[in-house]
Amino acid sequence: MIETPYYLIDKAKLLQNMEKIAQVRERSGAKALLALKCFATWSVFDLMRDYMDGTTSSSLNEVRLGHERFGKETHAYSVAYADHEIDEVVGHADKIIFNSIGQLDRFADRASGIVRGLRLNPQVSSSSFDLADPARPFSRLGEWDAEKIEKAMDRISGFMIHNHCENEDFELFDRILGQIEENFGALLSRVEWVSLGGGIHFTGENYPLETFCDRLKAFADKYGVQVYLEPGEASITQSTTLETTVLDTLYNGKHLAIVDSSIEAHMLDLLIYRESAKVTPNKGPHRYLVCGKSCLAGDIFGEFDFERELKVGDRVSFQDAAGYTMVKKNWFNGVKMPAIAVRELDGSIRTVREFTYADYEQSLS
Ligand SMILES: Cc1ncc(COP(=O)(O)O)c(C=O)c1O
Repeated sequence: MIETPYYLIDKAKLLQNMEKIAQVRERSGAKALLALKCFATWSVFDLMRDYMDGTTSSSLNEVRLGHERFGKETHAYSVAYADHEIDEVVGHADKIIFNSIGQLDRFADRASGIVRGLRLNPQVSSSSFDLADPARPFSRLGEWDAEKIEKAMDRISGFMIHNHCENEDFELFDRILGQIEENFGALLSRVEWVSLGGGIHFTGENYPLETFCDRLKAFADKYGVQVYLEPGEASITQSTTLETTVLDTLYNGKHLAIVDSSIEAHMLDLLIYRESAKVTPNKGPHRYLVCGKSCLAGDIFGEFDFERELKVGDRVSFQDAAGYTMVKKNWFNGVKMPAIAVRELDGSIRTVREFTYADYEQSLS
């Protein structure tokens, strides 16, 4: 028995996403890079490596991890690189994508040994969620002025465009790509590769995978480019749970259950986006507000229905706990850091990392 809390990555479920990604690569010709900002738990890279082309990153640390732990093709991107980082970044990467022409101007020479690209901001939103919308007004994420970009064309061979956010709607993807083609078609036909970023939920159930592939292929053929995708969430969706134990129950007008975890420390993204965690089957006559053990008054995972009354010692599993969770876990309140465990394809469960007081202590000085 592993002591809770722990994240449990199920390789069989991960494999289902990997097989869809492999299908997309095969049918569309697009390459797929794991976005490490979403998921960087390298213990399962051995499995993922066979189904993906490499990784993409958002910092020096990520590009190094991608290079050292995943291998294959390694893309470097960052909103801004510092002077003292750039040589090391270049040393780890096959391609570097600059966020702005300013960064390209500063660092193009020092990156002349590898392929260089620029982030293009198409100014088309796929989401009305301002916080996660790269095309929000005054966005710093990429260049949008075709005239300015034109002047940089001699120093780059590709573009990265990322403007989707958990987009499950193929029609919307198709429409947005059409708008990008309309606005930037002339530039697209002058480059060798285009990364369409992440945020496309193509491994989700009922996503029209073949139509998606055909659209990608038509785009690649029209402009003569190698297309890349940068799936983060789509790579690991539904693969992982956060396993917790009930420590206490209370009744304060509602039934409350406190678990040995914290949404702020262990599933922070849900708090940032004001979303509820997921518990399945979420059916039954006993409704509980399941709360974390940190001091934050709103440390609440959500309100769920259970078959039985919850008691101290009962297990509560939160679904879909891979993306933007493990990469964001933190030591708020010194709450015990969840271990990381993997359910292997043969069903056996292996703990791959445990965190101790020393890790907490050493996270500060
Ligand atoms: C440039 C870039 N690529 C890829 C991703 C991965 O997105 P997702 O995890 O939604 O697929 C992101 C997410 O913010 C991103 O900014």
